[in-house]
Amino acid sequence: MGIFHPRNHRAIRTREDFAKLPRHVAIIMDGNGRWAKKHKLNVAMGHRQGVETLREIIRHTDDLRIEALTIYAFSTENWNRSREEVAALMQLILDFFRSEIDELDEKNVRILILGEKDVFPEKQRDVLIEAERRTGKNTGLTLNICLNYGGRAELVRAAKSIAQDVKDGALALADVTEQTLSDRLYTANQPDVDLMIRTSGEMRLSNFLLYQCAYAEFLFPKVLWPDFTVQDYDEALLAYGGRERRFGKRL
Ligand code: FPP
Repeated sequence: MGIFHPRNHRAIRTREDFAKLPRHVAIIMDGNGRWAKKHKLNVAMGHRQGVETLREIIRHTDDLRIEALTIYAFSTENWNRSREEVAALMQLILDFFRSEIDELDEKNVRILILGEKDVFPEKQRDVLIEAERRTGKNTGLTLNICLNYGGRAELVRAAKSIAQDVKDGALALADVTEQTLSDRLYTANQPDVDLMIRTSGEMRLSNFLLYQCAYAEFLFPKVLWPDFTVQDYDEALLAYGGRERRFGKRL
C-alpha cells in the first residue's frame, strides 16, 4: 500500500502544543465507500486505505498520551452489507491484528474489543481473544475496537446483568446507580468520551457509545476517512481545546 497518500506537509503537533487534550476520543471512520467510488476502486480498497489512516491515528493518539481511543470498526448492522464487502472487512480485521499486534504491545497499548465476539468466524475470534489476552495488562493507551458493536445492545447487556444480580439478591434495587450501569458497559473504568469525531460530513451517532457520549463534544470534519490526516486530527483536538464544556452548569 502507500500509493494513495495525498499527505500534506503541515507540522505534526506534540502533547506540549495543546493547552487541553481529551482523555477519551471516539471516532466513526466514515467515508471509505465514497472514497473508493471517487477513485474508481472497489469498496474493499476504500476500507484498506481506511486501515492505513487508522494506523497513523492510533500512533498519534499514543504519542500524545491520550488515555483512550475508541474506534467503530464494524457495527451490528454492517453484517447486512454485501457478502464481498463483509468478507473484505473480515480479512482486514485479521490483517490488522496480525500486522499491528507486536508494535501495539511494545507500545504498552491495551486492546479491548467492544461487542459480541461469538458471532465472528473462528479465525477472527481467535485473533481478537489473543489480542485482548496479550495486551490485557498493558498500562498505556486503551484502544477500544468496536466490532459487532451496537450501543443499544450494550445497554441491554448491562441491564440484564444488573437484573440478574438483583434477582439473585447480590444487589439491592436501591443501590442501582449510574455508576452501577457504567461499570457494566464494555468501557467500565474508562473516562466518558470527551470528543467524538465522525468523518465524511455525516452528522449522526449511528448507535455508537450512546451512554458514554452523554457530555461529549462532537466534531464532523467533511474529509473522507481515508483522506483524514494526522494534521486533520490535530486540528480537531485543537478545536476541542477551544470548546467551553459546561456539563449543564452555568459557568
Ligand atoms: C464506514 O465507511 C466504515 C466502515 C463501515 C468500516 C470501517 C472499517 C475500517 C476502517 C477497517 C476495519 C477496521 C479494523 C480495525 C481492521 P462506509 O463504507 O460506510 O463509507 P461510505 O458511507 O462512504 O459508504
